[in-house]
Amino acid sequence: MSLRRTANSYLRRLTGYEVRKFRPPAPKPAAKPKPPPAKPKPPQPPTLHDFTKLSVLLEVAPTDLLVALGWPVDDVAKVVDEFDQLTDELKQRYTERETLFPERWGVERGTGLTLYGLARLLKPKTVVETGIADGRSSFMILSALDRNEQGTLYSFDVRPDAGSLVKGHPRWRQTVSDAKDPRRSFTEVVDGLDTIDLFLHDSDHGYPNQMFEYESAWPKIPSGGVLASDDVDLTKAYVDFATKIGARPHFLFDRRKILGAIRREAA
Ligand SMILES: C[S@@+](CC[C@H](N)C(=O)[O-])C[C@H]1O[C@@H](n2cnc3c(N)ncnc32)[C@H](O)[C@@H]1O
Repeated sequence: MSLRRTANSYLRRLTGYEVRKFRPPAPKPAAKPKPPPAKPKPPQPPTLHDFTKLSVLLEVAPTDLLVALGWPVDDVAKVVDEFDQLTDELKQRYTERETLFPERWGVERGTGLTLYGLARLLKPKTVVETGIADGRSSFMILSALDRNEQGTLYSFDVRPDAGSLVKGHPRWRQTVSDAKDPRRSFTEVVDGLDTIDLFLHDSDHGYPNQMFEYESAWPKIPSGGVLASDDVDLTKAYVDFATKIGARPHFLFDRRKILGAIRREAA
């Protein structure tokens, strides 16, 4: 019999108590390692509700969009007639020049007509566009400037080989943006412009870049001027921007994407 048991039998008899073997408390289970912080979700594309909650019309005809932006029906009808002739010129240009970008990167017909119409109706001195590719949108805008007999188009692209459809046009100023820092290239040129009567975004369609371009261009747009953006269905940047500045956004549902346009109200 062990010493403890013998002592316990005496103790129990004398006091009713006994000595227990010391058992150290069971070690606490090690705390589970914390899971790493969740990665921030990439910006989500807008939902249908993001559009409908704005209570605005989603136009399907470029002519309706131009009228909704404030131009008389008769003036809009005139530019539509001119545009039909332009489509033939563009087809011809495609046969004459070497193009390097996928054709589907170019603006859709309805967007092309809207851009031509805006540039004819606004009679802008300065137009800025980001995203040239082969230059279909540039072609539309420059054709309108030619008819107006005034205005300059400043176009930005990270690719030096962009713009073959309009290379050499006297009203065209191309900036080859630094691929590592395209915002710096954009800001350097835009800072030097007094106003931007018409702006088109059609470059990197990520939320941060879209918002950056809208916020950079908008302060330069005078009353009556227009900020347009292709692919506003890809992120919520355009919808958020319109809400932030308290402006009425317009939309053109152009086959496979949505063009947005905001006209700065007359002061
Ligand atoms: C959709 S395409 C432009 C299509 C053109 N507007 C047209 O109608 O033919 C997009 C272009 O943006 C250019 N790009 C992409 N990110 C850019 C950026 N951050 N700044 C300037 N250009 C960019 C690409 O090289 C590409 O040529």
